[in-house]
Amino acid sequence: MYISFALLVSFTTAFTVIKVKESYWDYPDYWPVPVYDFKKNPVTEEGFQLGRKLFYEPDFSRDGTISCANCHLQATGFTHVDHDLSHGIDGRIGKRNSLALMNLAWNKSFMWDGGVNHMDMQALQPITSEDEMDSSLKEVVKKLNASSKYRKLFYKVFKDSIITGQHTLKALSQFTISLNSYTSKYDKYIRKEDDVTFTDQEKSGLELFKNNCSSCHRAPLFTATDFKNNGLSIDTTLNDYGRYGITKNPVDFLKFKVPTLRNIQFTAPYMHDGRFESLREVLDHYVNAVNHNKTTDNVIKDIKLSQNNKTDLLVFLKTLSDFEFLYDKRYSFPREKPKP
Ligand code: HEC
Ligand code: HEC
Repeated sequence: MYISFALLVSFTTAFTVIKVKESYWDYPDYWPVPVYDFKKNPVTEEGFQLGRKLFYEPDFSRDGTISCANCHLQATGFTHVDHDLSHGIDGRIGKRNSLALMNLAWNKSFMWDGGVNHMDMQALQPITSEDEMDSSLKEVVKKLNASSKYRKLFYKVFKDSIITGQHTLKALSQFTISLNSYTSKYDKYIRKEDDVTFTDQEKSGLELFKNNCSSCHRAPLFTATDFKNNGLSIDTTLNDYGRYGITKNPVDFLKFKVPTLRNIQFTAPYMHDGRFESLREVLDHYVNAVNHNKTTDNVIKDIKLSQNNKTDLLVFLKTLSDFEFLYDKRYSFPREKPKP
């Protein structure tokens, strides 16, 4: 059977994984309950496979050149490798760094500024953005309806002979909310699984992380559901004020979504505008370069790390890499089975 996560991970010790929680869906039982409403869009194998096909479908863009996967590549945690600001149609440069996609069912809001508050609505933004796919849902649905193959696949999932915009968005969600990462070294260490142990350096890094970082990058998801100002200076060419741009409330000035740190080793460059190339630069920012502003978080102002501390933290951050997730074939480009 397809998503039996239990096949990937054998839990014999302290923690167990709930076998079938949301039909095709699994996560460790000590994690919080997801916020996504599965009742309105239950994940099924057919729905997931259709969403996967759509995620890799370039016809979502005006000229058939850009799929979601162009900016969300599996091997880099579904983010845009090497691009500070993401590139879309006609090589146009967007205004922000692509976000990594994982454990999205636990998110209440999406985008760096939380401008989208429902997963099923999120895809509208890249589809219609003139820097990304420069199309419209109507146009996408028209192209999909012209394909008898897609009409059949949609029928199997939604029992409707006409493909609708709503079903297109729901199918995409079935794929994107299933991208769950919880089999990193860190997870196995916490679960006392496969005899995984931490070196002294990793243990020291974990302690430093708990003391300096985890108030925002909170385990087990390594993110918080609110928006914070982590002391970045304003880029005066982009003038991106983050959450403030949505709420117009001065308390939100320069606050951005706290991104997850899972698979962070592979999601460079970092921050909403991709200004840092390496994790060492990120740590240097937290220690030396914090811009004190009215909304800068107090925790940030107190971070002190020696060179050794920084090295230990970097070693710890690598334990959040989940290779089973990054190379999970269920999430990869869906190749057609060769005809017999
Ligand atoms: C041209 C590059 C590009 C394309 C194409 C693209 N995205 Fe994105 N994606 C981004 C960027 C950049 C962000 C962050 C946007 C922001 O904060 O304003 C993002 C954010 C997201 C998020 C929010 C993640 C979070 O944690 O809040 C999701 C989900 C997502 N994209 C899914 C998709 C899907 C599904 C498609 C295809 C329909 C798609 N993307 C196409 C670049 C792209
Ligand atoms: C007060 C909350 C807060 C604390 C404490 C904090 N961060 Fe962050 N972190 C954020 C926010 C918010 C962002 C995104 C900022 C942006 O892009 O504008 C971020 C971004 C990052 C990124 C880049 C992620 C990406 O996908 O681009 C890394 C790496 C990171 N933090 C690591 C750490 C480490 C390591 C610590 C502890 C030394 C730490 N953070 C402490 C709030 C915090």
